[in-house]
Amino acid sequence: MIVLIGTLLVFIIAAAFHAYNSGIATGMQRRRPVLIRDLQTALEILKKSTLESRAKPNTRLVTAFGIQNAFTTRASNNHRSFMAEVKDLIRIVESEDWRAISDRADRVINGCMGEARYGQKIQLAPLVQHVVLRMVLALFFGIGLEPQNEDVGIITEKINTIWLLSKHPEAASDPKLVEQKTLLHAAIKRVFSLEQELSISPSENPLNIILLAYETLWRVVLRCFLEVCFRSPSGHRSHYGEILRQLCRDPTIERLEVRQNYSTTLIALITQFGQPDNISDTPELLVSVRDLVSEALRLYPPTRRIHRELSWQSYAIDVEFLHRAPTIWGDTAMEFRPERWSVLEHDGDILKAYMPFSAERYFCPAAPHVAPMLIGVLVAVLFKQFDGNWKVDGEEFQAVMSSDEPLEGSRDGLEGLQLVREHISY
Ligand code: HEM
Repeated sequence: MIVLIGTLLVFIIAAAFHAYNSGIATGMQRRRPVLIRDLQTALEILKKSTLESRAKPNTRLVTAFGIQNAFTTRASNNHRSFMAEVKDLIRIVESEDWRAISDRADRVINGCMGEARYGQKIQLAPLVQHVVLRMVLALFFGIGLEPQNEDVGIITEKINTIWLLSKHPEAASDPKLVEQKTLLHAAIKRVFSLEQELSISPSENPLNIILLAYETLWRVVLRCFLEVCFRSPSGHRSHYGEILRQLCRDPTIERLEVRQNYSTTLIALITQFGQPDNISDTPELLVSVRDLVSEALRLYPPTRRIHRELSWQSYAIDVEFLHRAPTIWGDTAMEFRPERWSVLEHDGDILKAYMPFSAERYFCPAAPHVAPMLIGVLVAVLFKQFDGNWKVDGEEFQAVMSSDEPLEGSRDGLEGLQLVREHISY
């Protein structure tokens, strides 16, 4: 009996050892990530983060997109040089003429409107993706309006498809993923005037930066625009609309921060349009465009989970959960309430739970100005184009207009959403 138990034990240990080793060899995740919803634990994990701990869960991106950037490297010299390059770019964008940036966004949206002005429906998510990608190409690579719309469409569509495919365990050997990557790289080569015959080296791949900037921005721009333009109570909407219009007229980092109360808006609206139809039921409403952006990033953090692998254990820090927890944010945690930020900005404890740009190590370098300014300007330009007689249509119409729940946050959520003009005035 003892011999039998002994043999069984040896067999179990050997099998476990084999499974463990083959896990290492194939780079497979050995265990499902532990979901972290406790703030202190989340902060501790982020504090302990190393390049290795971030690169491991991001290995799939290396194969899927053919990239090598801050999120995937394990070597500190590579990380240092990549960060130096990005910080230089960010400094340049910060000092750009934001009026020119806003005018460019306006022109791109106008270019996409086409037949929509005359009653055709317009697909909202592809429109936002298109505008955001063109802005990223312009700001971070100095690429003008030359790229064909078709190539911009291929890049946005393939990024989404590949991201979703790469999550499957067998992704690395999935022929569909390889085919999608080939099409994506071909479009990138056309846009960046690279030789079609040569393959793109991972460290030189423009996707290294495109993925960081475009992927995060478009989802929050789309949701912030929907909240402000279609889901807010009408009195609030006129207030938000006014501060967004002011940002369009004066697109500066200072204007982004100006917190305006509703009475000032009311005076501006009466001066421009006479007595507005809808007067807010909260005359104390005190909001800046930065508050609209901060609230959108709270309710819809583009990085919903931050992944780390430490001591052979994978963790997924549930940023979205922390951003929506009523124990932290109160009864209105699930609602879009930008006015909360005028009070919150002094509450250091609550702000620890706010981590759209991560926390502790590897904090996003675009967090202070460039990301909020881009989101603010893009939402302002979209609002200017679509405020008034446009309505939401399509499959997710009910979810957008009548639900008390936050909008769908997943990558492919809200894909079927359309905008359609209600009245055509010639
Ligand atoms: C809404 C916009 C953005 C959001 C929500 C965002 C979010 C984040 C998050 C959560 C991280 C940490 C990820 C991790 O460590 O696993 C990060 C890091 C980073 N982000 Fe952003 N990001 C945004 C825009 C941008 C833009 C426009 C750029 C410019 C290229 C950028 C460049 C970077 C870089 C280089 C890092 C790595 C930092 C490091 O390794 O020290 N991000 N971002």
